[in-house]
Amino acid sequence: MSDTPAKDPVIAQKAPYPVEVSAGKTYFWCACGRSAKQPFCDGSHKDTGFSPVKYTAEEDKKVFFCGCKHTGKPPFCDGTHSKL
Ligand code: FES
Ligand code: FES
Repeated sequence: MSDTPAKDPVIAQKAPYPVEVSAGKTYFWCACGRSAKQPFCDGSHKDTGFSPVKYTAEEDKKVFFCGCKHTGKPPFCDGTHSKL
């Protein structure tokens, strides 16, 4: 049944991943929760029905990528993890 699209993402962790991003650099946030390189996509979403979310940083700063994969504002943490 590995070709059945997943309805819910895997919770990688119930907390955000703080990351120092660099201006102009593009990141691909893992939406499926299966990547071994959290919070970023490593291709493990194949056949899950999920696709990574692209994010290009506009400035050097620290951002909090969602680790629970249930955020309402992907790819960032919006606090939803506290209700899971
Ligand atoms: Fe999760 Fe690619 S591995 S979206
Ligand atoms: Fe997903 Fe905070 S880690 S909403």
